Amino acid sequence: MTQSTFAPRALVERAQALLAEMSLEEKIGQLQMVQSGGWHVPDHLRDAIREGRVGSVINEVDVNTVNELQRIAVQESRLGIPLLVGRDVIHGFKTVFPIPLGQAAAWDPAVVERGARISAREAAACGVNWTFAPMLDIGRDPRWGRVAEGYGEDPYLTSVLGAAAVRGFQGTDLSAPDSVAACAKHFAGYGASEAGKDYNTTNIPLNEMRNVHLPPFEAAIRAGCATVMTSFSDIDGIPATASEFLLRETLRERWGFDGVVVSDWDAVRQLAVHGLTAGDRGSAQAAALAGVDIEMASTAYADHLASLIREGDVSEEILDGLVRNILVLKLRMGLFEDPYTDASQFPTPANAAHLRAAQEAAVASIVLLKNSAGVLPLHRERLERVAVLGPLADERHEQLGTWIFDGDPEHSVPFLPALRERLGEDVQVDYVRGLPTTRSHDRHEFEAAVQAATGADAAILVVGEEAILSGEAHCRADISLPGAQEALIEAIAATGTPVVLVVMAGRALALESVVPRVHAALYAFHPGTMGGPALVDILLGVEEPRGRLPVSLPRVTGQVPIYYAHKRTGKPATPDTIIRMEDIPARATQLSVGNTSFHLDVHPSPLFPFGFGLSYSHVQYSDVRASAGNLAPGGEIVLMADVTNTGPRTIHEVAQLYLCDPVASLTRPVRQLIGFKRLTLHPGERRTVHFTVTTEQLSFIGRDGSRVAEPGQFHAWIGGDATADQRVEFSLLEQ
Ligand code: GLC
Repeated sequence: MTQSTFAPRALVERAQALLAEMSLEEKIGQLQMVQSGGWHVPDHLRDAIREGRVGSVINEVDVNTVNELQRIAVQESRLGIPLLVGRDVIHGFKTVFPIPLGQAAAWDPAVVERGARISAREAAACGVNWTFAPMLDIGRDPRWGRVAEGYGEDPYLTSVLGAAAVRGFQGTDLSAPDSVAACAKHFAGYGASEAGKDYNTTNIPLNEMRNVHLPPFEAAIRAGCATVMTSFSDIDGIPATASEFLLRETLRERWGFDGVVVSDWDAVRQLAVHGLTAGDRGSAQAAALAGVDIEMASTAYADHLASLIREGDVSEEILDGLVRNILVLKLRMGLFEDPYTDASQFPTPANAAHLRAAQEAAVASIVLLKNSAGVLPLHRERLERVAVLGPLADERHEQLGTWIFDGDPEHSVPFLPALRERLGEDVQVDYVRGLPTTRSHDRHEFEAAVQAATGADAAILVVGEEAILSGEAHCRADISLPGAQEALIEAIAATGTPVVLVVMAGRALALESVVPRVHAALYAFHPGTMGGPALVDILLGVEEPRGRLPVSLPRVTGQVPIYYAHKRTGKPATPDTIIRMEDIPARATQLSVGNTSFHLDVHPSPLFPFGFGLSYSHVQYSDVRASAGNLAPGGEIVLMADVTNTGPRTIHEVAQLYLCDPVASLTRPVRQLIGFKRLTLHPGERRTVHFTVTTEQLSFIGRDGSRVAEPGQFHAWIGGDATADQRVEFSLLEQ
C-alpha cells in the first residue's frame, strides 16, 4: 500500500457530518461539473448552483465571475458548499512554459516544479483552484498528438517529473490561496491508443499496464496528487471510466488513494458510445459503481442517479462514498473557510520573474542533435550577415504549443526579433519565410530564401509543426516534416552556406532524410513564451545546450512505436543479421537474409536515442563500477562512473543509469532508466557520479500483481543516453 493523499481524520469527520445533512438531490449535485458561462453567470447556472445541483465548474477564468459563482454557492444554497473551479493549466497560464514534452527534455524536476508553481499562482489569481494536469500518459507513438502533453516514453522519467508537477501545482499546503489541486491524467493507458489515433482503442497486456503505464500515476499519488482523471480509452474492452480494476482495485485498494476521481469531458456519457451500456442510465450506473466521483460536462448522474438509487441499482452507500471524497477535497483545499479570491494578493501575471523562469525552462529544454564542424555556437564577432528562414521563425502563437487556453501570444518573443535584438545593428539579418505555413506546398518564396542564404555566414532554418498539428485529436499518420519544408531545406543546403536547423514541434518527427543535409540541428518541443531568446542564447553560446531527448526520434514513421525500453524478443536483431534492402542479392533464398527482428528498409535504431543531447564540449564516461558484487534483499548497492569534460566549454550533463534484469519471471526490457543525475562540469573537470540502488529499484510488478525483486544477476549502464555501453554486473542474493 503506498502513502495515499490521506486526508486528516478531522476533515473526514466534518465531511461525514455534512453528508448526513444532505438530501439525495444535494448529494447528486456535488457530482456535477458544468461548463461556466464565461465572464458571466447565466441564469440557468445561477439557479442550478443555488439549488445545490452543481459541485464544480470548468473554464471560468474571470475572477469576478468566479467570486460570484462562489458567492451564490456559499451564501444562496442551503448548505453553502463552495465550488471546485477547474481549468486546463497544462504548461502555463499567462506565462507559457515549454510544452510538457519539452519540459521533459530538461530532465530536471526543479524546472517542472517551478513552472507548475508559477502557473498555479497565475491561475489561482483568476479563481482557478483545480488544474487538469500533469498528464502522465506514456507516449511511445508520436503519431498520437497528445504526446505533446506528456513527459515522453519512459515511466521513470515521467514518474519523477509528474511528482514534481504535483508539488508545483499543490505547493506545500493545498489550502494556500496560490495552490491548485493537481490531477493525474488520463488514468490509464491512453498513450497506447492504437495507431496513434486519439480516442482509439488500446490493447495493453496486463503486465505492461502494471509496469509501464501505471507507475507514473502511483508516483503522483505518492506525491499527494489530489485528483485523478479517467481516460477516454477502453482497455481490453472496458472503458477506463467504468473500470473497477483501475478505479477501485488499483487506485483505491492497492494504492490507498482517497482523493477525487473526475471523468474526462463527456466520458461518462460516452460509455454508451463505446457500446458498454445502452444509454445514460446504464452509463451512470457503471461509472458510479466503478468509482467516478465527478462527471465532467455530461449529465448522466444528474439525470439518472436518483432513480438508480431509488430502484436499488446503485446503493446510497456508493453515492455517499463519491460525495465524501469531494467534500473532503473541498475541506482540504480550505474552500469552506476561504472560497473567494483576492486578485490583488497575487503577483502580476507574465511579470519579469515569470518570463525569466520561462526562458530558463526553454533553454533547459532545447536539445542539440547535431553540430558538425563546430558550426555552433555562432560567434557574433565573426558574423556579418545571417539568413533567417522558415515558417516558424517569427510566430508568436505557434511556439506556445498546444493546450494554451490562457497563454497570451502578445508576451511571446519569437526567434527572429530575439536574434535581431541580440545581434544589434552590426550584423545584417535577412528574413525570408520561405513557406506560408509548415503545411504549405507554395514554393514561390523559395528563390528569395535561396538568395538570402547565398553568401550568408549562416542560414538558420526554423521549421517543424504549427501548434495545431499536435495536442488532443491532432494526430498524424506521417510524422515527417509537413508541407514542402524538406524541399526548402534541400534548396538552402544546396547554396553551400552552413545550415542550422531549428525544429519546433509537439512530437518527435521522422527526420532521417533531413538531418544529413544540415550542419547543425536543434530540437525545441514548442518552447513557450520565451522560446525565441532561449534559442538565440544557445545558438550564440550565451547558454550551453543541455536538453536531452525524452523520446526516441525515429528515422521514418514506419518504425513507430519505437522506444529504447523494448523487449529483447526471441530473435533480436544483431549487427551481423541486419541487412539493408538495397544490399540483398538478387534471387536471395528465403532464409538467407533477415531471420531476426528488424525492418529490411530502415536500420532498427532510432535516428537519435532516448536521453541523447549534445553540448558544445565533449563528455567521457569511464570506469563504471559497483561498490560490491552483490546485495542482499532489502540492501543497497552503489553504482558509480567517472564523468569527464574533455572539451573546451562547460557541460551541463545528465548522467543516466539504466538497468536490465536479464532473466526474470516476466520478460523485462533490454534496459530501463532507474536514475539520472545532473552535473555541471567545467573544461577538464572529472567527477565521480554515484547512484545508490535499492532492492525496490530492481523490482517490477510480477505475475500476481505485487512488486517483486527476483534474485539473480543484473546488468547496469551509466552514460549519456540509452545507448550507454559501459556495463557493470552485480547480483541480488536469495532471501
Ligand atoms: C479534454 C481532455 C482533458 C481535459 C478535459 C477538460 O477532452 O481530454 O485532458 O482536461 O477535456 O478540458
